[in-house]
Amino acid sequence: MITRQILPLVSLALCLFLPFPVACYGSGEHKEAPHHMENMDAMKAQHERMANFKEAADMISNAIIHSAPQLAHDGAEKLDRALIGHEGDMPHKNRAHVKEFHRLFVELGKRTENLKSAIKADDLPKSAVAYGRILEVCATCHKKFRD
Ligand code: HEC
Repeated sequence: MITRQILPLVSLALCLFLPFPVACYGSGEHKEAPHHMENMDAMKAQHERMANFKEAADMISNAIIHSAPQLAHDGAEKLDRALIGHEGDMPHKNRAHVKEFHRLFVELGKRTENLKSAIKADDLPKSAVAYGRILEVCATCHKKFRD
């Protein structure tokens, strides 16, 4: 008897209260999550890109010093791959110069192609020069856009 009376009350209570916080939480997520997540993802991607750049640069440097063409090749390929998706990156400062920021990534891509040709031609001294030209781009961007 009691259950018959209570059951509708319980379901009413569930209907009233359960969906409410869920909906609340849900809409809150929709309002704030995309913007927030985009920034977080973009920052993470940019951070990972830099870590990969550094790893690739170390590989290429070691390859040149130790005359290791395979390592040079792998380093150049890694650098190339690390550039993928750079269009989504944003500088943390000097944001008004965002075009220049992106041009530097494009320039880095061109200089990576030059490095790849020098490595393919098995010309390590030329690869060393191409590598220096790559570091020039790293340094130019860091000087202007890194905190
Ligand atoms: C177009 C601009 C740009 C280019 C090109 C660039 N970087 Fe960076 N780099 C940044 C910025 C901005 C930061 C600091 C903030 C960040 O990590 O996003 C940074 C940070 C770093 C860091 C510090 C770790 C970190 O994530 O903060 C390393 C290491 C690094 N870069 C390596 C390199 C190397 C190696 C190259 C060249 C092969 C390179 N970067 C080219 C913009 C650039």
